[in-house]
Parts: sequence; C-alpha cells; structure tokens
Amino acid sequence: MTNSAVRMTGVVKRFPGVVANDGVNFEVLKGEVHALLGENGAGKSTLSNILTGLYRPDEGTIELNGSPVVFGSPKAALDAGIGMVHQHFRLVEPFTVAENVILGNPETPFVIDTGTTAERVAELARRYDMAVDPNAKIWQLSVGEQQRVEILKVLYRGAQVLILDEPTAVLTPIEAEALFRTLRAMTAEGRTVIFISHKLDEVMSVSDRITVLRGGRTVGTVNTRDTSTRELASMMVGRSVEFSRVVRQSPADPGNVVLSLTNVNCEDDRGRQALHEVTVTVGRGEIVGVAGVAGNGQRELAEVIAGMRSSTGGTITVSGNEVPNGRARAAIAGGVAHVPEDRLHTGLAAGHSVEDNMALKNYRTPLLSRFGLLKRNVITSQAGDLVSKYDVKTPDTATPVRLLSGGNVQKVLLAREFSTNPRVLIAASPTRGLDVGAIETVRGRLVEAADSGVGILLISEDLEEIMSLADRIVVMYEGRLVADIPASQATREQLGLLMGGAKMEVTR
Ligand SMILES: Nc1ncnc2c1ncn2[C@@H]1O[C@H](COP(=O)(O)OP(=O)(O)O)[C@@H](O)[C@H]1O
Ligand SMILES: [Mg+2]
Repeated sequence: MTNSAVRMTGVVKRFPGVVANDGVNFEVLKGEVHALLGENGAGKSTLSNILTGLYRPDEGTIELNGSPVVFGSPKAALDAGIGMVHQHFRLVEPFTVAENVILGNPETPFVIDTGTTAERVAELARRYDMAVDPNAKIWQLSVGEQQRVEILKVLYRGAQVLILDEPTAVLTPIEAEALFRTLRAMTAEGRTVIFISHKLDEVMSVSDRITVLRGGRTVGTVNTRDTSTRELASMMVGRSVEFSRVVRQSPADPGNVVLSLTNVNCEDDRGRQALHEVTVTVGRGEIVGVAGVAGNGQRELAEVIAGMRSSTGGTITVSGNEVPNGRARAAIAGGVAHVPEDRLHTGLAAGHSVEDNMALKNYRTPLLSRFGLLKRNVITSQAGDLVSKYDVKTPDTATPVRLLSGGNVQKVLLAREFSTNPRVLIAASPTRGLDVGAIETVRGRLVEAADSGVGILLISEDLEEIMSLADRIVVMYEGRLVADIPASQATREQLGLLMGGAKMEVTR
C-alpha cells in the first residue's frame, strides 16, 4: 500500500546544447499540494511536460500510484489521470464555458445537450469554489475566469493529479487567493496538485511540501511547515557558488548621473501595468545590475528607456536632459544604446549583412553618408575593424547576420551599439545562450565600456553575472524595484529572497 501518487526517478531530458532535466527525482503524495520551485530555466516546465506526455524522457522512469507508466501523448497522460492546466490558455473564444469544457472529450455525443452540460459544469465549479458562469462566452471572461475554465476542463476529464505551471503569473493577488482555495478544495477530496512557481511567499502559503530544482537537478524536498523563505531562497539560487569580481580600470562615479528614471510607469502588451513607479539612477562608468526572474517587468523597463515603449508616467533623463516619451530615435540621439534580449528580431536585421547591421544606427551621420549616398567603402572598412575588435567569427562582412552563431550575433550587436559612442547602455541578458569564449568577450567589452565612462544597466537573470560585473544591484519583482544594494554587500541568498518576492526583513 503506497501513498505515492507520482514518482519520477532519474529523469533526464536533453535539448540541443542544454540538459534541461539532469537526473531529477521527484515524488508527490496523494492528496497534497506539492510545489515545484526554481528559478527561470531550472527545468520545471520540462519536467511537467514529461509528466504530461508532451515530451519523452531520455532516461529515467515515471510511476503512477506505484506502477510504472510511459505516456506517448498528453491524451494518454490525461486518460491515466494526469492533467495539465496550461500557462497559455487553449480556449475557443466564441464558445461558452460549458462548450469549452466538453470540447475534446471523446464521450461527448454529436448532439450536445447544453442544458445538462451547463448544469454539470456549474456543479463542478461550485464544488471547487470557482466563480464562473457556464453559459458565459470565453471572450467575456477575465483572465482569472479563463484559467478556471482550463481547470474545469481537466477536472471534467477526471484528472486526479493536476499540474499548474506558474498559474499566478497572470492573476491579480485576489484571484490568486481564490485559486489557492480551489486547490485546497481539490486536495481535500483526495486529488493531488503540483504547483509550479518561483514565488517564495506563494509556495509557503499554498503547499504541503516543496521540491526545489536548480540547473535541471533536484536540490531537495522539504516540508513546508519545517522550512522558511530564507532556506528556500538559498536552495533556489545556490549558496556556495564562488564568483570573482571583475577588476575595473577606472572606478564608477555614481554621483555623476548619466541615466535617471523617476517614478516611471508603463503597461505591458496586454495593457496591464508592468512598471510601478520605477526610480533608479546610473552614474558615469557605473554598472547597475537589475536582478530578477524574467517576466517581472525587465523587458518593459529596457524598452521604455530605449524609447520603444511609451511610459504612462514619470520622467527619464540622460545626462540631465529629458528623453521624449516613446521615441526610439530621440533616445538614440540622446545617447542611449540598447542590446535587447531578442537579438535577431528587435536588435538586428537578420537577413542583412554584418556590415549593414553594423552601420544601421550611423547611416545618417556624415562619416557614412554624403548627400544621401552611403559611402560603401567606409562602411566596409569600419565593419572590418569592428569584426576584429569584437572577435566576430564570420567569413566576411558581407555575410548575412542570420548565418552567424548566437555568440557572434551578440558581438555584432554590441559592436554596433558601442560604435555610436553612447552615454548609457541597456544590456538585457547579454550573454544568455553564449558559449564560454563569447561570454568572456561580451563581458570584457561591457567592462571596457564602463571603464570609458558609459553608464550600464545590466538586466540579467544570471546572478553570477550580475554579482561579478555590477557595482550596484537592484532587484525587480512584479514591476517594482524592491532593493538597491552595493554589489560588494549583496549575497546570493539575500538576492534570491528578494527575487522571490520576500520583503527585506524576513522573520518567518
Ligand atoms: N523545447 C526546448 N528546446 C530547447 N531547449 C529547451 C526547450 N525547452 C526548454 N529548454 C531549455 O531547458 C532549460 C529548462 O527550461 P524550462 O524547463 O522551461 O525551465 P523553467 O520552466 O524552470 O523555467 C532551459 O535552459 C531552456 O532554455
Ligand atoms: Mg517554465
């Protein structure tokens, strides 16, 4: 007689260039809310995709209720009782809640008695404390209500184990509280919930036990009542990783402000507030690291400063001059350079040559054009110089950027941005996905720029990178800057706590 609902043992999943799950052990008991905690990229979604039959593991075994299982598809997993509540909803907008719940159910007859179905859906919703009208059309619902429909879909199919991947990311705090009550109602009936999150407070309040993943491996499983946000934070980000601070040629001059944001607000693409009263300064030659789990407003922050997104309040100044709101060209003219996260789409013209990309921001200057004509020979020779200075591995400067490897694409982008002699550089995850050699080159160029007086806002999820490069560290959580710490005093544990939404003083 076992109380085990799900047991995953030695699960390995490799993707080209990355081991997403590296021998994960994970056991979930019947009737518990089990949280899977980890930073972005820790391997949480991959593990849940394996459990729900979307991916086949390269190694390892899965047992359900004590018996080994192999799922060939999400349908097979659902038939066995494991259901996934997706991060991105898969609902049919013009249909009603009840219609969406029964869509895809093989037992659904051709002619649907909507009256009876609506009754059954309403009864399920009541049982689990979910406020949703079965006759409402999907397009009429809030995001929180749509999520309830996704939950109803898997419950309707009889799932005994429900997996929710970062379900609160799209919810307001009040909706999140309602979701937690629903999860409790499900476990009270003996169902099992796997709750994926990177938020410490939330994991502490909703779960019975917590398994922490880091870098694709299991760090450990703890009882929620025996742990603390502090302990979880250090499990999540790692306690003992050694890092060496980069040696700077000339010190930062934080008093000589080159970039200043005061109470800046803005919205995300869906019209939700993404930045809340963000205030921060960057001094001449200073590297300010913005730590945080992706999706907490970092992208919007970079875009607002670069003029690619309009703010809805507050001011941004560069060297004391206010930058007009939402105008990228004015930001560039004011001295802002931007290395975006999304290099090949936002950053570069992928189909164009290395030299054209390198000239992209300077083509209006007298050096590169005269009477509206581009000076091709100057462009080519300047690009040649940049290719050697930035160690770009390319057959020649006429090669399209899309044919280069990720590290070399990033070097092209940095070369171009620095060739505009910026005062301020916004660098978003500048070394993500690069090999060790390219990481060294890119970091070296960032430090060199800071030494020459450029103020750098370094947005990164990589704590090691931030702690080794930054002079000062701010932490972003849900659109707010929640701390401002000299890098020499910051600890990984403290940053981990702040990234998980814990307040500065933690008593729990
Ligand atoms: N389909 C995929 N192809 C290639 N790499 C992937 C894929 N899915 C995830 N990864 C990589 O695997 C690692 C773990 O990702 P993921 O499981 O999504 O982490 P989490 O959900 O904890 O943020 C990351 O390095 C990610 O880039
Ligand atoms: Mg994920």
